[in-house]
Amino acid sequence: MPKLSDVAHLGKAVTDSLQRGAPDIDMDTVPKMLDLSAEGLTDNVIAVNANTGNQRQKLVMEVLVRHLHAFASEVALTTEEWKTAIEFLTKTGQTCSDIRQEFILLSDVFGLSALVDILNHPKPEGATESTLLGPFFVEDAKTISLGESIASEGKGEPMLVRGRGNPIMRCMIDTWETDQDGFYDTQYTEYENDCRGRLYTDANGRYAFRGILPVAYPIPNDGPVGQLLRTMHRHVFRPAHLHFSFVTASSSLLRRFISGVTSSSRGRHISVDQLIGSDAVFGVKSSLIVETTRVTDPDEARRLGFSSDSFHLVEYDFVLLTKEEAAFEQAKVRHAASSRIVHPQVEVVGTSVALRSLP
Ligand SMILES: [Fe+2]
Repeated sequence: MPKLSDVAHLGKAVTDSLQRGAPDIDMDTVPKMLDLSAEGLTDNVIAVNANTGNQRQKLVMEVLVRHLHAFASEVALTTEEWKTAIEFLTKTGQTCSDIRQEFILLSDVFGLSALVDILNHPKPEGATESTLLGPFFVEDAKTISLGESIASEGKGEPMLVRGRGNPIMRCMIDTWETDQDGFYDTQYTEYENDCRGRLYTDANGRYAFRGILPVAYPIPNDGPVGQLLRTMHRHVFRPAHLHFSFVTASSSLLRRFISGVTSSSRGRHISVDQLIGSDAVFGVKSSLIVETTRVTDPDEARRLGFSSDSFHLVEYDFVLLTKEEAAFEQAKVRHAASSRIVHPQVEVVGTSVALRSLP
């Protein structure tokens, strides 16, 4: 079993690299590369990657390489395009910081984040669908009692949100939304918990809280991802929505948002419906679209704690899965995926001339 370090006549660069931690692997396990033509290259790369003991990693790398090579071949990728892509990814990385993740944004605008969410949170008919969590969730939301407001006084147009779980008693609900200007509290330099809260369903699984009508907002678009969207003639906006996270002792963690349609004049230039139908990050699902209604009833408004005579009303019930039900649905997705994957026996054909130095 010769290791790389057993090979004679290694140069200083190789020995130094091995000493610094480069893997000193058994060379008998390394597949011999043969035909590195356009047809044979893909199988060679897959074969070289196949020695990992991690079967999941082996599968993911195999499929990734096959699709990556197929993509380049299908579009006949030019060297200039390849360089442009490398420069774009470099800028994307350079834009990332402790408070900004441009790669996740890139994943979002390609719909990859939405797809990963769908694959990892499959739902049977009738269960509340999950959707993108987004970057504005925080753990330190203030806890409110049922019926209390998550928004400070004077913010936006008043809104009441209420409904029930399936039913689930003491389900912990985190909810967060934009203020009237389209910003989350975490986006302000002086962060102060607002337009977000944590509450628990009552003994009948019911919940209610006051907030404000959220508004549409742009995703970060002053970096390479924004530039890409401009070249694709895409807009950068998310429709008005309200985030929910549900946590119970018996249910899996679910995260989703609902999008409210408003009849106000806010959509004079671009209708709210159009934004719902063209979310920049593909987070809107039809089962998560909720119509808001306008209630004008001063007595009812006062009774609920509003200082105004009218308010917007959102009523939405949610249905959560138990952990066992969620695991069952995920197993179905994984089984379907693994049965679709073809594992070709790597048969490398062709010839090549290798140069071997004799001692
Ligand atoms: Fe959001």
